[in-house]
Amino acid sequence: MPERILVAVAWPYANGSLHVGSVAGAYLPADIFARYHRLKGNDVAMVSGSDAHGTPVTITAEQRGVSPEQVAAEYQAEFLDNWDRLGIKFDLFTTTHTKNHADTAQDMFLKLYENGFMYKDTRSQPYCETDNRFLPDRYVEGTCPHCGDTGARGDQCDACGRPLDPEDLIDMVCRTCGQSPIIRDTEHFFLKLSAFEDKLLEWMRAQDHFKPNVKNFTISYLEGGLHDRAMSRDLEWGIPVPIEGYEDKRIYVWFEAVIGYLSATKEWSQNIGQPDRWKEFWQQPCRAYYFQGKDNIPFHTVIWPAMLMGYEGLNLPHNVSANEYVNLGGQKVSTSRNWAVWIPDYLERYDPDPLRYTLAANMPETSDSDFTWLDFVRRNNNELVATYGNLVNRVLSMVQRNFEGRVPVPGNLDSADQDLLDQARVHFENTATELEACRFRPALQSAMSLGQAANRYLDAQAPWKAVREDVQDAATTLWVSLSVINCLKTMFAPYLPFSSASLHTMLGLPGSVEEEGWAWTPDAVKFGTALPKPEPLFTKLDESVIEEETARLGK
Ligand code: MF3
Ligand code: ZN
Repeated sequence: MPERILVAVAWPYANGSLHVGSVAGAYLPADIFARYHRLKGNDVAMVSGSDAHGTPVTITAEQRGVSPEQVAAEYQAEFLDNWDRLGIKFDLFTTTHTKNHADTAQDMFLKLYENGFMYKDTRSQPYCETDNRFLPDRYVEGTCPHCGDTGARGDQCDACGRPLDPEDLIDMVCRTCGQSPIIRDTEHFFLKLSAFEDKLLEWMRAQDHFKPNVKNFTISYLEGGLHDRAMSRDLEWGIPVPIEGYEDKRIYVWFEAVIGYLSATKEWSQNIGQPDRWKEFWQQPCRAYYFQGKDNIPFHTVIWPAMLMGYEGLNLPHNVSANEYVNLGGQKVSTSRNWAVWIPDYLERYDPDPLRYTLAANMPETSDSDFTWLDFVRRNNNELVATYGNLVNRVLSMVQRNFEGRVPVPGNLDSADQDLLDQARVHFENTATELEACRFRPALQSAMSLGQAANRYLDAQAPWKAVREDVQDAATTLWVSLSVINCLKTMFAPYLPFSSASLHTMLGLPGSVEEEGWAWTPDAVKFGTALPKPEPLFTKLDESVIEEETARLGK
């Protein structure tokens, strides 16, 4: 029985390019997971989109002197192009700037209001007298009241990860003009988060399959006590509050962005001509996995589940798989200082699979990790080219040279042959177990260990010698090797989709990797099949790349 899997991926703000940190944090793990489940034949919907509203986008628009629509549309186009070239395969990557999304968000706002979980109240908010406006979210900066960090923004403190309201900040200044704002009263709609404190704690404590970093952060956040938070803003850009007399206010960007998971599933259902399909993912048994960076945790483990509990009848997250950060050469990524590796730049110069490989091998699953160009070049050259690519190349070239390009017929398998096939089986199953549990780094290691074992086997069997002395023995070795390479192709497929697709063709197999699915038997590689001329799977990179690319950082 296929299972239903919703892969819900954090929505990038449509105000800047993607960088390797965000890819390793959310999009790549989500894509690996979705690809694995599709191979298994499960019913997968992987959805996300641009987070088009809110102050991140309006601030960029003001700085560039263009409309927020224009900024959002520009990055939406760039993201779609990047996903395509990186092989991040969404079932739908939409934007929050659609009518469907606005309708879904307003419906949830109203239903929570009707259910008594949203109420109107007056709040004192920073108001800039120079710019003549209220200063929501990212329009103010100051000191975090929780941890004392001086670089906190009015929406969140990056140092301690707590969501903030602008008026929480100590010594706040207006980001546009640098003046200290005054405090003025304004009316807003508050989500009664306090009503969900116990229910959320009970739910979170029972989630034993959550990663400890996510679970512990959430429990300590909840134990600190939840206060009600304003879910509307004094802004022009965004989705209008659907309540009479308040249409000039906008729905808080985080409130509506998380609803994107639901609205995008609906839009996808429309697109595939099955308008009710979303219900299977939200109202029937379905495991919903959320992928994001660690700064998004409280929005997905506290605010969104509270909204779902208040709305009633929709599935809570099954897992919230947040990653830690990827640093760059030992320093925190800073997009403003250009201390980042931008995806559009990367894609201009290199292939997608080596980046996917390096980021997965260093995925910040349990602690922060570090990206360096040295590591990238080393992994590409030593692991992809020298271990995996070279194994494939040696075997396929010998088949061309010595067996007229046809899959050789094996003789009896001896214990070394059998042992490698057994190892393949064990690694194949182990990779699956790790992938199920969202442990992407160990799953990849397991696949690469099989590649190393296959190289050792090939060296020991030395078919290039056997071919002259005992052709049958060489044929057996090459057939076993081809079978194991075929196994590697499937194990690597969620990580290295482009090279797995070319390898599938080079092995003379019918259909596609996707059609074949997550399955492996040694005899899938058929004797006598004519194989095409092999092409190298990966390209060796010159060491000069390290210096050249490192020199671009921070410029
Ligand atoms: N735009 C947010 C960020 O980049 C993430 C939003 S995730 C969502 O941090 F669930 F709220 F959409
Ligand atoms: Zn803080």
